[in-house]
Amino acid sequence: MENEVTMEKITNVCKQYGFIFQGSEIYGGLANTWDYGPLGSRIKNNVKDAWRKRFIQENDNSYELDAAILMHPRVWEASGHVGGFSDPLVDCKECKTRHRADHLIEGFTSDVVPDLMSDEEMIKYIRDNNIPCPNCGKSNYTDIREFSLMFETHRGVIKDDKSVVYLRPENAQGEYVNFLNVQRTMRAKVPFGIGQIGKAFRNEITPGNFTFRTIEFEQMEHQLFCKPGTDLEIYEHYKEYAKKFFTDLGLPEDKLRYHDHDKLVFYASAACDIEYKYPFGYGELNGTHDRTDYDLSQHQEFSTKSQEYLDPETNEKYIPYVVESTVGCDRLVLALLCEAYEEEKLEDGSVREVMHLNPFVAPYKVAVLPLVKKYHTDKAKEIYKELSKHFMCSYDETGNIGKRYRRQDVIGTPFCITIDDNTLNENKITVRDRDTMEQVTLKIDELVDYISEKVIF
Ligand code: GAP
Repeated sequence: MENEVTMEKITNVCKQYGFIFQGSEIYGGLANTWDYGPLGSRIKNNVKDAWRKRFIQENDNSYELDAAILMHPRVWEASGHVGGFSDPLVDCKECKTRHRADHLIEGFTSDVVPDLMSDEEMIKYIRDNNIPCPNCGKSNYTDIREFSLMFETHRGVIKDDKSVVYLRPENAQGEYVNFLNVQRTMRAKVPFGIGQIGKAFRNEITPGNFTFRTIEFEQMEHQLFCKPGTDLEIYEHYKEYAKKFFTDLGLPEDKLRYHDHDKLVFYASAACDIEYKYPFGYGELNGTHDRTDYDLSQHQEFSTKSQEYLDPETNEKYIPYVVESTVGCDRLVLALLCEAYEEEKLEDGSVREVMHLNPFVAPYKVAVLPLVKKYHTDKAKEIYKELSKHFMCSYDETGNIGKRYRRQDVIGTPFCITIDDNTLNENKITVRDRDTMEQVTLKIDELVDYISEKVIF
């Protein structure tokens, strides 16, 4: 299809306009690392602010945390990641490429669920059905090996087993080990939440699809600590809450779907992903997990420090259950970009590239454009300076006004204001809307309120 949004198009637009660049590009790039440029980093920060607003600010009794990425190695023994956090890997004996066995099966059929199969069952299925290698098309694989996703490094000067530390593969453990610190210092009563935005690292076997699956990424995770027995209702609430967060940001309901897990890790009592339909197909954006009292109980056992909560009203002591809601920040940014990008065919037959981003997420809220450089620049700069106290603004005086509108459209700027003789003589300003291309005339002193109202989340 002519105007179909493909991953290739999105990757090119991101590179060309300053959203996302290949990591270490001048050295030939480091595979599957990406650097967010001036526009991409603004979008990412806005997405984090939106999450913070929903999951901390507007969420009763929720607190934010910024825990260290490097944690005591025992944390990862207690959590089950050491030794248990791995993917089933097969090598193609013909072309030497590596693949996840579960992904090979998922790409081949929906008749079986790899999550429910053992490694032996998976390789048997792959061989019995001659599932072809996605790279060379032959079907000749090694047995499955479990491949650890943990990035290991060493602290101190001596590189031995005792100096091993891990780059955290998830944020959640930071919230768990600080559960009592937050509860005590915030005088929080169960149910309460701890949320955190931060980097996580996984040595993925099959990274790809641009920023969808990478080895370094950011998570926005929220853990709700609650009384056992109240967890399932809270779990249902967070499934809805996360979905509403996505639709409010601009992802359409008909491109989001729930995927309830058929196979649960032994400690979880429920788990569900929300998937978004990317150009390459449905992919996980978020997870809601009822993790019971597993994590806190494990930390109690491994640290030998009680993790019990004393209910001040009933004097009951118990280890709270945890309902987790986690969102991949990079995946959400990617989904918003894929959804927002359009090659719009105009009546005159020309094509306009537009990023219909939610104004709250857009990198710039306003572009200030003097109509004629010679006459309108001073006033335009004055207005730009004033507006910059309120919003991220862009300023552009080069090229004809039509081209300048187009440049702002493709980077998602929701409002362009034109400074012309009307501004000089009557303090009036023209505001152009990115999506409708309609223009309204306002007085200069009405501008801040007009824009503020439209960029709120
Ligand atoms: N604390 C729970 C946890 O980490 P997860 O489903 O493994 O759960 C949470 O990860 C979210 O992090 C996912 O829903 C996804 O959005 C994001 N994510 C996971 N692996 C990723 C990767 N390799 N690259 C980018 N995002 C990833």
